Amino acid sequence: MPKPRPLIRPLVQALHAYVPGEQPRIRGLIKLNTNENPYPPSERVLAATRAAVDDRLRRYPNPTSQLLRERLARLHGCRPEHILIGNGSDELLALAVRAFVEPEAGSKTLSAATVQYFDPSYSLYPVLAAIHGARVNPVPLAPEFHLPRVTGRGREKRWDAGAALSLVTTPNAPGGRGFATAELEELCAATRGVVVLDEAYVDFARENALELALRHPHVLVFRTFSKAYSLCFQRVGYCVGPADLIGALDRIRDSYNVNGLGQVAALATLQDLPYYRANFRKIIATRERLTGALTDLGFSVIPSQTNFILVKPPGPEAREWLQALRERRILVRWFSTPGISDRLRITIGTDAETDRLLSAVGAILRKRPRR
Ligand SMILES: Cc1ncc(COP(=O)(O)O)c(C=O)c1O
Repeated sequence: MPKPRPLIRPLVQALHAYVPGEQPRIRGLIKLNTNENPYPPSERVLAATRAAVDDRLRRYPNPTSQLLRERLARLHGCRPEHILIGNGSDELLALAVRAFVEPEAGSKTLSAATVQYFDPSYSLYPVLAAIHGARVNPVPLAPEFHLPRVTGRGREKRWDAGAALSLVTTPNAPGGRGFATAELEELCAATRGVVVLDEAYVDFARENALELALRHPHVLVFRTFSKAYSLCFQRVGYCVGPADLIGALDRIRDSYNVNGLGQVAALATLQDLPYYRANFRKIIATRERLTGALTDLGFSVIPSQTNFILVKPPGPEAREWLQALRERRILVRWFSTPGISDRLRITIGTDAETDRLLSAVGAILRKRPRR
């Protein structure tokens, strides 16, 4: 008897799935582990979403999120053909891998099967490549989480100029550094494959690189309503770029990829931008205050242009800090990944949450055995 074929593909059996941050239900918990916005959606967004919970629920939503594409096109000075809406930007990242990268098994060249990204960056990227059977090329960031130059002598060894897809988190995660548009343009000019500028945190940064997606035939910018627009729950992201690349992603997406309430909430968000811009300013001010206070307490903090900071704590190991803070009902994020396992990523909360975090840090430092 021949051995029966396994029911599950070996690739899937061997896969290390993406590990999202915890969403525990602990009363009084200060949750600073998943870069959610500490401020609620605007009243207008809540009202519009509530008002849409009616007989409409039995119908399919608009399959192309047409109104939302039109509004975003107006906001960004382009046409709706340059915009695609996704079920979170995570969906768009998965579509980009499927649309632009060959699985390694059937590929004529290694570059055609390569997903390239800086290391460390968003830990979903290698998982998406693995699901697709593609190859990865993680290129180390420069010291202190700066963007490395990818052109020039010796550098081309690491950066594959022909990689089918390069995913660049800008501003970076989990480091938090912002990258200048001029640096990013140099990188795009040095790359022949598709470059995705993943701007999930860009509303907290000094610069954005949207113009690169409107000027270059191989550049896409991905944005999300999750972080800056307090809408993680609804799962709405979008991408901007050349119509042929957008069309390719559109061809392979699910027919009704964006749920109806998500479309309603995102549209209402765009009508209330001043509310959100005031929140960005509050979060940036809190980020700067927390950065200063932790630095004074002996933490080493990477300057951030996002809604989180990456810190190296003094004294005990980062993992022990994670536990000590958790015992005080404060949840932050620790990654076991080499290169960042000595750090904690802390999402910026409200001012009151930040005060509680700082007093917990002070208490932990006071309890520390003297050496
Ligand atoms: C760099 C980066 N890109 C994309 C995403 C996904 O966001 P969304 O909620 O739109 O799927 C995240 C979420 O953590 C992220 O950190």
